[in-house]
Amino acid sequence: MIYFDNSASTLVKPKQVQKAILDALTYYTANPGRSGHREAIKTAMEIEKVRDKVARHVNGDMVIFTGGCTHALNLAILGYVKSGHVVCTENEHNSVLRPLQFLHDTKGVEFDIAKQSKRGKLTYEDIKPYLKSDTELVIVNHISNVNGDVADIEEIGKRLKERDIPLLVDGAQGGGHFKYDMKSMNIAMLALAPHKGFYSPQGVGCLVINGDIKLDPIIFGGTGTNSLELYQPDTLPERLESGTLNSPNIIAFGAGIEFLEENFVPIKEKMDDLTTFLHYELSKLPVDIYTATENTNGVFAFNIDCYNSSELATILNDRYGICVRGGYHCAPKKHEALGTLDTGLVRVSFSYYNTLQEVERLVMAIKHILSKRK
Ligand code: ALA
Repeated sequence: MIYFDNSASTLVKPKQVQKAILDALTYYTANPGRSGHREAIKTAMEIEKVRDKVARHVNGDMVIFTGGCTHALNLAILGYVKSGHVVCTENEHNSVLRPLQFLHDTKGVEFDIAKQSKRGKLTYEDIKPYLKSDTELVIVNHISNVNGDVADIEEIGKRLKERDIPLLVDGAQGGGHFKYDMKSMNIAMLALAPHKGFYSPQGVGCLVINGDIKLDPIIFGGTGTNSLELYQPDTLPERLESGTLNSPNIIAFGAGIEFLEENFVPIKEKMDDLTTFLHYELSKLPVDIYTATENTNGVFAFNIDCYNSSELATILNDRYGICVRGGYHCAPKKHEALGTLDTGLVRVSFSYYNTLQEVERLVMAIKHILSKRK
């Protein structure tokens, strides 16, 4: 079996991540935020170490642990936007588009979807025409989960700072592939998906806040503090983290960050090599490629005419043992922009554990499929 669906979730988790989760289930099983006894404190201290690690990794101020990246984006959007105007981009995932549509329907919030004008790259110039005097938030998908297109978040952050508009970055695909520095890049909020580029378990995500951003909770309940009050406490992270935290997965996320930091350069080089090689090989074939040559971040999209992408993904799985994702990738506006609303796209997405030999097998499978084309 060859697994090329790492943008959905990385398949192989490093030994140190596996060990961390086992250790957590052995030594850190008390509830980290509810009691003052030593077992609770022991777990809480492990969680706080991870909180510090994440904050340091992206140079942010406050880390809010969530149930996933979708939850983190919902918290940022529903917790921040009041009644003003929002700009997002055509590269957004439904975890951004759907909360925005909900705010539009329930609170009359207006939002615009900026179009990407250049192949492979979304720039500030694409966003600028949509900004208004009451724009409250700009949301930018950093690396498209559909085809690996990249947004120039450094320039976007810099220019938005001049206009005093906060920037929320969806780092679901960028996390682990890119070194964020929230302060120098003027990113107000950053959502991360540990189970992708951090090689960590599913079921945990985080929203990192930089500076003075005030969020309303979207989940209310026990925080282990101010327990006699009917109001959420004002202090962070408790205000935004009601309910028992996912301690084992958070602790394993800490090990995932360590793994990533230790291997950042080789991981990046591997992504570059594999994407470039696949691009080069498929360019020689009658294949429609939807990923720009310069985007070598491990996400690659293509189609073969006369196949629907889901059908092609099924053939790759059933006949060649190759796992890719076909169909739609929860990003309807991106499919509209790429002209793939009817067929969807086959997405190949790599991890550090993939090899050039595996990519060669995919290329051979595609050649074989092409030779038998309907
Ligand atoms: N958003 C994830 C993907 O792109 C699940 O597959």
